Amino acid sequence: MTNDDRRDVSDATSGKTQQEGGVVLLPPGTLVVLCGISGCGKSTFAAANFTTTQIVSSDECRAILSDDPADQSVSGRAFELLHWITDQRLRRKRTTAVDSTALSKRARRDLLKIAHSNQAHIVLICFDIPLAECLARDIARERTVGPVVIGRQYKAFTAALSDIQDEDWDRVFVLSEEEAGKVRFMAQAGSFELRDLTGPFDVIGDLHGCMSELRELLDKLGYRQGSRPAFYHPEGRKLVFLGDLGDRGPDSAEAFALVMSLVEDRVALYTPGNHCNKLMRYLQGRHVKQTHGLSMAVEQVEARDRNKPGFKDRLRRFIENAPTYLWLDNGLLVVAHAGIKADMIGKDNSAVQRMCLYGDITGQTNPDGTPMRLDWAQRYTGTAAIVYGHTPKPDPVWVNNTINIDQGCVFGGWLSALRWPECETVSVRAHAAYYTECTPQFIEEAHKSGSEAENE
Ligand code: CTP
Ligand code: MG
Repeated sequence: MTNDDRRDVSDATSGKTQQEGGVVLLPPGTLVVLCGISGCGKSTFAAANFTTTQIVSSDECRAILSDDPADQSVSGRAFELLHWITDQRLRRKRTTAVDSTALSKRARRDLLKIAHSNQAHIVLICFDIPLAECLARDIARERTVGPVVIGRQYKAFTAALSDIQDEDWDRVFVLSEEEAGKVRFMAQAGSFELRDLTGPFDVIGDLHGCMSELRELLDKLGYRQGSRPAFYHPEGRKLVFLGDLGDRGPDSAEAFALVMSLVEDRVALYTPGNHCNKLMRYLQGRHVKQTHGLSMAVEQVEARDRNKPGFKDRLRRFIENAPTYLWLDNGLLVVAHAGIKADMIGKDNSAVQRMCLYGDITGQTNPDGTPMRLDWAQRYTGTAAIVYGHTPKPDPVWVNNTINIDQGCVFGGWLSALRWPECETVSVRAHAAYYTECTPQFIEEAHKSGSEAENE
C-alpha cells in the first residue's frame, strides 16, 4: 500500500462529508435516521436520496391511519407502525430512511434498538439549518407547523447535537444547508448475503487489467468462449473476482467491461478492491490523486466511454452497487479483497468496508510512510474459508483457513485462481512486468533467478 492509498483510506471511509460532489455509500440494510426541526428539509432530502419504498415517514404513517399527516392524535400508533415497517425492512436487509424529527432521546433510542436487533449499519443525518430559514420555509408551504412548535423543536435540536455524541451511531453527519443539497447518499444494492450460492466457484486473484493472462487462466480452468456470456464453463462453474480488476496493468477498461458483462450474465460475482474504489470515486467526480497506475486506467476508461457512451456511468454504478464482500456456499466461503475478520462476517459497516478494501490497518505508519497493518490471517480462527488478495504473496498457501491468491501478476508475477470446493490453485505466469514502481521483492528475485537461468 502506498501513501496515496493511505489518503484514500481516510477519504473513502471518514465520517466527514466530502465538500465537493460527496457520495456516501450505504451498505445494504442500513438504517438512516433523519433528524431536524420542521421545515429543515428532511422530506425534500429523503426524496432526493432514496426511493419511495426506502423512506418510512411519520407523516405518511399518520396519514395511513387517519388520512391526515398532521393528526397528532394518532401519533402513538403511527410510530408503532413506523417502527414495525422499519424492523421488517431491516430484517430483509433493505436500506431504510426514517423521516421523522428524531429530536427526542427516546425517539432515537427506539430506532437504535431496532437497528441493533437487526445488526444494521446505523447512520444519523442531522440538518443544521438556520431557524429563520426553517420558519420562512414553513410559512411558504401549504401545511404549516407554526413558529411556536418550531421554536420548541429548535431547542430540542440543539440538545440533540450534544446528546448524540454519547449515542451508538456508526456514522453521524451534520449537514449545513449547502451540504444537504450537495452530498448524495446511495443505498448499495448488492448484499454480501449469498450463502445460497453453492458454486462450484473459481476465484480469480487481483487482475489489474492483465487480460491476456486472464484468458490463459480461464482456458486452463476449462472455460470456453462464447458471445453471451463471453465465457462459460461446461460444468456450470461460476467465476468470482475479488477486486482490483483494473489500474496499473495494460487493459483496465477491458477487464471491467468483461467482468461487468459476466456478472450481468450471472456467470460471475464481483467484490471491489481499493483500486476499484478509487476509480469509482474518480467516476463520481470526486478528487482523487491520479498516480501513474490510475491515470492509465482513467485514460482507458475515458477512451472506451467515447466509443461506447454510457460506459463510465455503467461502470460507476457497477462498483457502487457491488457487495463489500461475498459470503458463499452455506457460509463456508468468504471472498473479500483484503480479507475479513471472523467477527465481521455477516455484518456490513464502515469498519468492515475498510477491512475488506485495505486490510487490518492500525491508523499508524511504518518508518517508510506506509500504513501499519496487522496480520489478521495469522490470528484468524473462523470456520469459513477466506479467499483474499490485495498484498502480493509468493505462493497461494493456506494460513488458518485463509488463502491469499494475489501473486502479483501486474508486477510480472503470476495470476492465480482458487477452485472451490476442490481447494486447488491454478496459476499462469505474467506475460510481462507491466508495473515496476513498487515490484514486490519475491518477484524481483524470481526475475533475477530467471535471467540467471537464461544466461547459463
Ligand atoms: N425546501 C426548500 N429548500 C430546501 C429544502 C426544502 O425550499 N433546500 C422547502 C420544501 O419545498 C418545503 C419546505 O421547505 O416546502 C419544508 O421542507 P421539507 O422537506 O418538507 O421539510 P421537513 O424537514 O420534512 O419538515 P417536516 O418536519 O415539517 O416534515
Ligand atoms: Mg417532512
